[in-house]
Amino acid sequence: MPDRRYHITTFGCQMNKADSERMAGILDHLGWQAVDKPDDADLILYNTCTIRDNAEQKVYSYLGRQAGRKRDNPQLTLVVAGCVAQQEGERLLRRVPELDLVMGPQHANRLADLLEQVFQGNQVVATEAVDILEDITQARRESAVTAWVNVIYGCNEHCTYCVVPQVRGKEQSRDPAAIQAEVAQLVSQGYKEVVLLGQNIDAYGRDLGTRPNGRYQVTLPDLLELIHDTPGLVRIRFATSHPRYFTERLIRTCAALPKVCEHFHIPFQSGDNEILRAMQRGYTHEKYRRIIEQIRVLMPDAAISADAIVGFPGETEAQFENTLRLVADIGFDLVNTAAYSPRPGTPAATWADQIPEAIKQDRLQRLNHQVGLAAAGRSQRYWGRIEEVLVEEVNPKDPQQVMGRTRTNRLTFLPGQIETLRGQLVQVRIDQVRPFSLSGEPLALSATHL
Ligand code: SAH
Ligand code: SF4
Ligand code: F3S
Repeated sequence: MPDRRYHITTFGCQMNKADSERMAGILDHLGWQAVDKPDDADLILYNTCTIRDNAEQKVYSYLGRQAGRKRDNPQLTLVVAGCVAQQEGERLLRRVPELDLVMGPQHANRLADLLEQVFQGNQVVATEAVDILEDITQARRESAVTAWVNVIYGCNEHCTYCVVPQVRGKEQSRDPAAIQAEVAQLVSQGYKEVVLLGQNIDAYGRDLGTRPNGRYQVTLPDLLELIHDTPGLVRIRFATSHPRYFTERLIRTCAALPKVCEHFHIPFQSGDNEILRAMQRGYTHEKYRRIIEQIRVLMPDAAISADAIVGFPGETEAQFENTLRLVADIGFDLVNTAAYSPRPGTPAATWADQIPEAIKQDRLQRLNHQVGLAAAGRSQRYWGRIEEVLVEEVNPKDPQQVMGRTRTNRLTFLPGQIETLRGQLVQVRIDQVRPFSLSGEPLALSATHL
């Protein structure tokens, strides 16, 4: 059999990264070998993102290069998966005729079947809406310590700027027993932490039916309780939370379950009520502030991170300043910021009052400055404290150091060897604080099994 080497490049969010790990697992299972460089591969898979125009354009530039290579080497198999594949479908084949397979995110677990069709000589487009298969192959995971676990696919929201519902389809929650079994298996393989994933994770269970009393059979707090019992599991995280559905019960559950880490990722997108209404987010900045207040009453040290967009159509300077004010008032640990990018098929892209690029960039810079100040302020509280760090990897910039995260998700560096420390919980005395990371000295190893 000729060599069968594959390369995957992944763009976009954790959901895409998790999909790539499952697709890599399928290729491993089929006897393919992973390689780091696309130029060494016989099969190249780009798992793509289309959240903003620059993400989409990046994909075309990568693809153009490999399409050129394929003209000299017709044996090369070219696959485009993920959100650009779903958005563009057949159009991608017209744009890049060298492609063998275009597959939307809902088809990730079907990669083996789709490749079989390709190797029978077909050019395949798989973008129809499907029920996502429970995956039976093992994912090939990048980390040996922390594992992503999809719990709900898709998104049923209608945020007027966002392509995700179009490209990821309707919400589909996985069966709680299947999730529980996957977590148990991960722990038996040595994983210490799981990160439960969903675009709108608070929606988990809404499609799994109700009880006679009208309540949902299973919700996110129920799921957290269920997997919390997994012996040997050390930490549980989850993302992304939506302010519209975020509940006090969720905070209480997190506060009561020691393995659930003190970190919430709750995007607010804008600090202005009119913009929030135009975005169809379904909450006000007052409601958002109340959520954070509740968190701070019940879990005072919890870290709060978020996403925000500047330059949404019609955003005035005063409305933008409301976003700056929210960031200053809340004191976020981290905010992912972006300039609004009009996306095909979304309502806001058709509105007349688009904001000039120069203004968007100016606002982005000002917001980033405010975010840096807030994060630096939040980092101060760690100075001199002893933090529990779960060591994940070597510090790529210094082989004498390892890195991991505090329970609140702050990246932390400490001296040590990865061979002995990977997957260990280390008590670290923090002696350097930067806006988005910390450094310190290890005290002693604590038990890794709770
Ligand atoms: N489901 C999550 C976020 C998914 S997309 C939520 O509801 O918050 C990740 C982030 O990309 C969003 O939070 C938003 O800040 C950003 N984003 C989405 N569409 C965008 C667009 N058209 N332009 C700029 N940023 C966008
Ligand atoms: Fe996009 Fe809104 Fe769904 Fe988040 S909740 S993925 S921003 S549509
Ligand atoms: Fe991008 Fe798709 Fe995620 S558009 S952000 S990879 S859901």
